[in-house]
Amino acid sequence: MSRPVLLVVAVLLAACSRGASVGSPGGAPAAALLPAEVTPSNIALGDSLFNNGGCVRCHGPAGIGATNAPALNDAQWLQLKTGAYDEIVGIITSGVPATAIKDPTHKNPMGARGGRMNLTDPQIKAVAAYVYSLSHK
Ligand code: HEC
Repeated sequence: MSRPVLLVVAVLLAACSRGASVGSPGGAPAAALLPAEVTPSNIALGDSLFNNGGCVRCHGPAGIGATNAPALNDAQWLQLKTGAYDEIVGIITSGVPATAIKDPTHKNPMGARGGRMNLTDPQIKAVAAYVYSLSHK
């Protein structure tokens, strides 16, 4: 084989192997990499903050939902778009003011940083890891 032919073969091989690594379009959601903060220890800390703290009061045990606030253990969201980890961190940090509540059966606004819990940034990351784990089983 002459040099130009070898080059063409090499380029074709490269193109094929790249094509093979692309996920199926329109298929099942790609096996998303777990966000770095979703670790077993953060989930455990978040579990205890959520279920012994204020969140459980409105969202029910393990986020099954209650009269005051929606379930967090499914993939349906009222406020979040996709349920991505960063979105969860964002809403726990900002809370949900009364004017932003989507479902009028939810009477009480959600306080920023867990309201009286006044969560620190690391605690928010942990609670968010726990909430993320509820909807990404
Ligand atoms: C006083 C009640 C109350 C408490 C306490 C509370 N929330 Fe909420 N939460 C709400 C309400 C109300 C909404 C918005 C529901 C709506 O729009 O109808 C909400 C929304 C959310 C959402 C978005 C849900 C969605 O469907 O998009 C997440 C995530 C969430 N809360 C997590 C938490 C976490 C974690 C805690 C504890 C740190 C917490 N909440 C404490 C009332 C509460």
